[in-house]
Amino acid sequence: MSEQGLSERLGDYGSVRHWAIQSLFESLEDYSEGTVIVDAGARIVWINARYADRFGFADPAAAIGRQVEEVIPNSLMREVVTSGRPMLLDIMQTRQGTLVVTRLPLKDDQDQLVGAIGFALFDEVQSMSPLLAKFARLSEELVATRESLAQARRAKYTFDSFIGSSEAARALKHQAERAAQMDSPLLLLGETGTGKEVLAHAIHAASRRAHKPLVTINMAAIPETLLEAEFFGATAGAYTGADRKGRVGKFQLADGGTLFLDEIGDLPPALQAKLLRVLQDKEFEALGSNKVQHSDVRIIAATSVRLAEKVERGEFRADLFYRLNVLAIELPPLRDRLSDLAELCEALLAELAGNSAAGRYRLSAAALARLADYDWPGNVRELRNILERAIMLADTSVLDVADVVPLLSPASPPRFDAEEAAHSYQSAMAGFEAQLLRDALAACDGHVPSAAARLGIGRATLYKKLAALDIAPR
Ligand SMILES: Nc1ncnc2c1ncn2[C@@H]1O[C@H](COP(=O)(O)OP(=O)(O)OP(=O)(O)O)[C@@H](O)[C@H]1O
Ligand SMILES: [Mg+2]
Repeated sequence: MSEQGLSERLGDYGSVRHWAIQSLFESLEDYSEGTVIVDAGARIVWINARYADRFGFADPAAAIGRQVEEVIPNSLMREVVTSGRPMLLDIMQTRQGTLVVTRLPLKDDQDQLVGAIGFALFDEVQSMSPLLAKFARLSEELVATRESLAQARRAKYTFDSFIGSSEAARALKHQAERAAQMDSPLLLLGETGTGKEVLAHAIHAASRRAHKPLVTINMAAIPETLLEAEFFGATAGAYTGADRKGRVGKFQLADGGTLFLDEIGDLPPALQAKLLRVLQDKEFEALGSNKVQHSDVRIIAATSVRLAEKVERGEFRADLFYRLNVLAIELPPLRDRLSDLAELCEALLAELAGNSAAGRYRLSAAALARLADYDWPGNVRELRNILERAIMLADTSVLDVADVVPLLSPASPPRFDAEEAAHSYQSAMAGFEAQLLRDALAACDGHVPSAAARLGIGRATLYKKLAALDIAPR
């Protein structure tokens, strides 16, 4: 292409451009519902009559010189003059209806920003209606989803839901109430089914974080590869697999509230290190991002495995264990608080019957006595399951021995597991004896003379044995 040809073409472009600039403003002005021009300080320098009228200024001159938001409350023109960047298509809500708007920065010959121009492109927004309908529907869905999430995250249980008035249960609730006033990490220990989850909810509900979410992650239920994103979130494209969408992590969802880390013993080593960092520095990063986010959550962790032993075996980081274990609560197994059995059965039967008018079940005294003889390896959860099955099978509303006993595991599972079988005969026997004495005491609410009677030994003998085994009666 010759030099000549190029400049001719530029000449053509120049005139076209000149013509376009002249007509563009006029045609946009014609077609648009409103046009407004602001200076670099977001003060209105010009507004057309129709637009001014929409916002209650019968005379457009009265709007001149005002800050743009004084005239157009939701205007984002200030952002355009501040950033220098256009907003090519936006939706603006006004009290008089929805407008589709375009906002462009205005620059002088030296490319200095002098202001911005905004067009409200569609009045009735008819031509945009499919898009706007979608926008409105998504906004509504978002509000509804947020509400239901907030609902779901509100604590399910309070301290009243934790049934039991035995010495052990009362001491436990007292400890938990104090823990609710604190903000440090909390570790809940106890066999399966002892109510760790119930207690975690109750503690959250009684804490200053109660109005914020309680979010749970179950380490045992989520594949290791997904766990990090579950914790900290992930940016779009951070995964190579099918799930390329970004996701919000539970740390962020729980912001201001409580994060319940269930089955913490199953946390893989890589994540143990990352969790430790959040506990120490209160900071984390989403997967695929290097933006540091601040964390404001209270951690409640729970486990039914013996975490201290996992530490000894090198399966759980000692430093993380000590961080979590600063404040720890041990939930007693049901067999250590058998005096709560009647109260628990009553509450669970009422809960299981729900609102059904027919449902008012109770246990006969004999049936209750048989339940008190059982070992309850599955604790309150097992009790609940058994009562639930008994209700389904029973013909009458009074559950008797025959209704419950067949549902109990025929032989109580061995009280000592493989680990403990390795112990010496003496320590196994001492363990057995200690457990036997604790059970008897729990069954008698810590009353030594009754416990001695129950065991068929003398009261003095029992005192001696308790002292030797370092068991406090109460
Ligand atoms: N003190 C209690 N009062 C009333 N219900 C209880 C109590 N403890 C436990 N439950 C009931 O027993 C069941 C198991 O409780 P929960 O899920 O809290 O146990 P867990 O300690 O978390 O067990 P796991 O270690 O197996 O997860 C639930 O149905 C719960 O409602
Ligand atoms: Mg649990």
